[in-house]
Order: sequence, then C-alpha cells, then structure tokens
Amino acid sequence: MANVAVIGAQWGDEGKGKIVDWLAERADVVVRFQGGHNAGHTLVIGENVYKLSLLPSGIVRGTPSVIGNGVVLDPWALKAEVEKLTAQGVTITPDVLHIADNCALILPFHRDLDALREDASGAGKIGTTRRGIGPAYEDKVGRRAIRVCDLAHLDDLGPQLDRLCAHHDALRAGFGEPPVDRDALVAELREIADFVLSFAKPVWLMLNEARKRGDRILFEGAQGVLLDVDHGTYPFVTSSNTIAGTAAGGSGLGPSAVGFVLGIAKAYTTRVGSGPFPTELENDVGERLGVRGHEFGTVTGRKRRCGWFDAVLVRQAAAVSGVTGIALTKLDVLDGFETISICTGYLLHGQTLDHFPSNAADQAAVQPVYEEIEGWSQSTAGARSWAQLPAQAIKYIRRIEELIQCPVALVSTSPEREDTILVRDPFLD
Ligand code: IMP
Repeated sequence: MANVAVIGAQWGDEGKGKIVDWLAERADVVVRFQGGHNAGHTLVIGENVYKLSLLPSGIVRGTPSVIGNGVVLDPWALKAEVEKLTAQGVTITPDVLHIADNCALILPFHRDLDALREDASGAGKIGTTRRGIGPAYEDKVGRRAIRVCDLAHLDDLGPQLDRLCAHHDALRAGFGEPPVDRDALVAELREIADFVLSFAKPVWLMLNEARKRGDRILFEGAQGVLLDVDHGTYPFVTSSNTIAGTAAGGSGLGPSAVGFVLGIAKAYTTRVGSGPFPTELENDVGERLGVRGHEFGTVTGRKRRCGWFDAVLVRQAAAVSGVTGIALTKLDVLDGFETISICTGYLLHGQTLDHFPSNAADQAAVQPVYEEIEGWSQSTAGARSWAQLPAQAIKYIRRIEELIQCPVALVSTSPEREDTILVRDPFLD
C-alpha cells in the first residue's frame, strides 16, 4: 500500500480538487506541502460546492488535514477560509486541522509588495495572484520570515523584525510607500495569534508517527509542474517547487514516504497569468474550450488561456516529478470536435525539439508540431467505464499515454466524484 502524492502536471487548474477529494475519503491524513492561498481547489459534493485555497481538501470530509512547513500561511486568509467553510457546515477543529509551527507567514506588506511589483512591471508582469506568495517565500529563504511558532513569542520578535523591516522599508521607499508600521503589525498579529496557534504543532512528528503506524498519507500539491520555480516556465512561475519531490521536504518526511505519484492533466491545456504557452489557441477553438470547460480562475476569476494538449510538456512534467500514473481530466470538454490536435514536438529556429527549452526567449519562440486525430461526436460526460467511451476517445487516451510515456491511471468525465474511470488505484499500487 502506497502513500500518494497528487500534483498538477500542467500549469495548475487540472482538476486536482475532485481527485484529491476522491482519494481523501480513503486517506488517514491529507497534507498540503507547498504554495499558499494562491491555489484554487473546487470540490463538488452532492449539491454543495466547496472552494478551497489554503486548507487541504480532506477537511471537507473530516479527514485529518495538515498544512506542512513548505506552505506559506496568511493568518487572515486562513481565518476567513475557516469561517467560510464553517458557515457551509464543515467542522474545523484542532483535532482535524494541524498546522506546522515552522510555516513562514504571509504578512500584509507581502501582499502590497506583490501588487506594487506587478503594477510596476509593465510587459514583464508575471500575472501573479497578488496574494503575497513570492515576497513571503523570498523572506523565508532570506531568513527574515516570521513563522507560526513566533506568534507565541510576539514580545521577543525585536531582532527578527529589525531584519525584516530593514529589508522591506528599503523596498517600500523605492515604491514611494511609508515604512512598515511595526507596532500596528505586532498588534494585528497579537489579535490573530491565538486562532492560528490553536492549530499549530510540530506536524513532522505527527506525520512520522502516522507513517510508522502505516497510515495512508495523501500529499496534496498545488499549482502544477510547469509553474515550478526550477522546472517551470521561469520566470513565469510561482515561488515554490511544485514537483512531487517537495511532498517530503514540505511536510517533514523523508523521500521514501512518497509512494505513488499521481499527475493530474487536463485532456487539453490551460494557463492563467503571463508566460509561454506553445499550444495556445487565440481563436474560436480556444474560446470553445474555455466556454465548455468553464475556464475561469477559482481564486482570481481570471479567464484562463486555452489550447490543445501538449504531450511534450506533460512528458517533461511527468519525468521531473517521477509520475507513476496520470489522471486525465475534463475529457468531456473535447466531445463534438471533428478533429483534435496533440502537440508531439516543437520547432525552434528550424530545429526539431523533443523537450521544452529552459531559456525564456526560446520557450516563447517554439512552434508546436501537431498530430491530428479524429474526434468523436458522442458524449463522454459522466462515463464510468471504458465501455461507455467512444472508440475514438479511447484512441485519444492511448495515444496520449504513448506520447507522454506514462500510463493513465484515472479518467475523469465530469466534476462529480463518481464520474471517474479507474484503471489503477494509487493507494493499492
Ligand atoms: P503566484 O503564485 O501568485 O506568485 O503567481 C505566479 C504564477 O502562478 C501566475 O501565473 C499565477 O497565475 C500562477 N498560479 C498560482 N497559483 C495558481 C493555481 O493554483 N492555479 C493556476 N495558476 C496559478
């Protein structure tokens, strides 16, 4: 029996929420290990729709849920999300939610800085979610961050605040902003400290105990491999490592704790924010994918860019993340297309490439090489077995498997949990 890490194999928004929810029901504990409240996971349970940004998806069903040390945590966003879910009838107590006491905090001036920088960047704008994610990770790595455990020692913050404010006051001055109001910051933290601390603990201890007991651990990734700060479309990426390897370090477990790596990929491609996107379709076809797939961001409401499935990118994402099996989502969005294209390679200045280059200018310049396959007219929406899929849809899935060099473990055919074709159960692998 394996622990399972679920990660996005494209640019995020692959439909991880539904798959994680399906697996969370059978997990003993669910762990978020990177990112922050920039994520948007939608769970549809019966009549109810839950939108999560920071909390692990297990929380909705009462599965013990952990926010690991690799996450950057905005205390006010946490409180707002807990209150929102509580109003929807979800019980969130310190028995269910556990927050790593060594998580770095996102503070109000991180949000300000994220927005100030984006607004000042003109065409170089990254298109961030403006949640302060990047600036908070910078402070963590710069050894200036205030962490969850520090909330219990706010009177002793002096030297840490000196370091933090020395850095931020200089930056803020450059943007014509006043220095950080230290007293106001400490007062705001004092107000929220008890709430956050009620969930805080050394979660690495708890997770190692769980592992010794043989509990099933589900690691819930956010964003996607193509937004990874090392392996993604740098600099148009998020500020954390989104690959499966982070599941261990971001939760306080060793690398062997991660067993099955389930990569989630849409049957086509989407992206929010700026950056290269070789198969993007700025035409009626892209528009049709967006409308059929309801491609609007969960967090920011932004319209997502849409394009054909890019097998080169997913093959690369699967390789750098050690993906064991793919969950292919939103297959039904392709219903009714006469032909469907799959990107099988790139042309860069007349040369053929079988991988995505690292340099940003090359990434922007690659031209996709397409293979066209015949589409299907029947509906695949709600299919729960191969027998319910048209032959052409099966052919499409098989071709994707070949091109990405990775088997399909699951196919998702609607937002409903039950509308899933299970090929291989990650927990039983
Ligand atoms: P940040 O994570 O807010 O710094 O944004 C950096 C980039 O990652 C931007 O292109 C965002 O649109 C993208 N991004 C961040 N979180 C998500 C997500 O959960 N889904 C899709 N894109 C995301």
